[in-house]
Amino acid sequence: MTDQDTRREQWRGVDEGWGRRAVEFASISEPANCREYVALHQHLGVGAGTRLLDVACGAGLAVELAAARGATCAGIDASHRLVAVAQDRSPDADLRVGDMHALPWDDESFDVVTSFRGIWGTTPDAVAEVRRVLRPGGRMGLTVWGHIKASQGAWALEPFTLARDEKVANQAAMVTLGRSGAGEELLTRWGFEHVRRVEIPFAWEFPDPETYARALASTGPAYEAIQAVGEQAFAQHAVEVARERVRDGLPLRAEIKVVGYVAHKPVDVQRGPSFLPEPATTPEVEEMYADDVDDLGYVMNASKLWGLDPRSADAIFGLMGTATELGGLSFRQRGIVVTACASTLGDSYCSLAWGGKLATKAGAEVAAGVLRGDDVGLDDSEKALAAWARKVARDPNGTTPADVQLLRDAGFDDRQVFAVTVYAAARLAFSTVNDALGAVPDEELVGSVPDEVRHAVSYGRPASTTGP
Ligand SMILES: C[S@@+](CC[C@H](N)C(=O)[O-])C[C@H]1O[C@@H](n2cnc3c(N)ncnc32)[C@H](O)[C@@H]1O
Repeated sequence: MTDQDTRREQWRGVDEGWGRRAVEFASISEPANCREYVALHQHLGVGAGTRLLDVACGAGLAVELAAARGATCAGIDASHRLVAVAQDRSPDADLRVGDMHALPWDDESFDVVTSFRGIWGTTPDAVAEVRRVLRPGGRMGLTVWGHIKASQGAWALEPFTLARDEKVANQAAMVTLGRSGAGEELLTRWGFEHVRRVEIPFAWEFPDPETYARALASTGPAYEAIQAVGEQAFAQHAVEVARERVRDGLPLRAEIKVVGYVAHKPVDVQRGPSFLPEPATTPEVEEMYADDVDDLGYVMNASKLWGLDPRSADAIFGLMGTATELGGLSFRQRGIVVTACASTLGDSYCSLAWGGKLATKAGAEVAAGVLRGDDVGLDDSEKALAAWARKVARDPNGTTPADVQLLRDAGFDDRQVFAVTVYAAARLAFSTVNDALGAVPDEELVGSVPDEVRHAVSYGRPASTTGP
């Protein structure tokens, strides 16, 4: 099983934590979130006739409120016991048990997709699915926890920290999407535009510490704490925390910072493998395609672009071959040069293709390190190679004799320095053509690279999994 398969299966265990007290969650926990539902629906213009999907819909209160505005609603959640409540509340809605990473709806089915603290920094692939099921021009909105420590109501989430250290660390990783710039970066990366951070009011109110403790205990993160310290200790701790907050004649109130993001799927979505139509079939094109199928099992979108003139492809790959021979460049060295150049240029296609290739030779961490630019696992001569490739890609007029000397010091002779530079320049030319003419990274390619590589490629054109 690949990392991706394992992650895809994890959703099946979610009901254990989120569904075990579905009735209490639905009746005393979820209603306390109501302000955020109203605010996000307002920002997204949810109204009569809106086809809306709520991802990680929980017990479906947000769905019910959207339907009250006239929307035609669908929802999905991993917890079958929460979905049962949602179905009871909204019998006319299309509510399903399933995984947000594989939404069981056709492309372009919805006008609006929402997710209330359901999509996190740890679940970025779900954003690709949201984009797929939205119609061009459709709107998405999601909320995540903001700066919890700076919130007046931080105390109300404190009992979650009773969970085991690794669970608390995971909870912390989940909330990173609320940090400044993080959501904007994620949504832009997955092909959304007009990404905006919006004000989301969020305040839990409970009549007394005991009700608060019961509401909290019905949530998934509380279950992680309960597994560590037991039901009773969790409840006792939560009640004690809340007692200090009791106010005479007023409800317990915990205001917590929540961040909202709204964004649009572009109207002008690309439908082909690149901006240019596919080439007519000629023997040369057929040969190019057959080589891809032999090597990879599919025809790359890049080949569908370069098939417009196979002679140009031969010329550019011929130059790369000449440089490889001239410099005696090993596969690993070429992998480092390509991934360093492609990541500097912001070319997701070659970063994924060669990140994957380098990972098979050198390991996923090494490949991801070059893509990220921290070069973990490279020796000194390889670091010099990567640094040179980045300079050539970023600013070829900014190089100096001292930079060349660094390569010599790292063991490269002058012929190799020339060869590496020709190789890098040929790769950059290849990337430039692909990028400028909109060659879309292949879905199969994205699925074939290790998670580390995929996560390191946080730039460039999104893959075709994210587009129609
Ligand atoms: C913080 S709750 C939010 C629930 C609801 N949106 C609300 O506002 O109360 C997170 C929800 O995500 C659901 N969930 C977790 N992993 C999921 C997955 N892979 N696919 C679908 N739902 C998932 C949980 O069952 C839970 O209902």
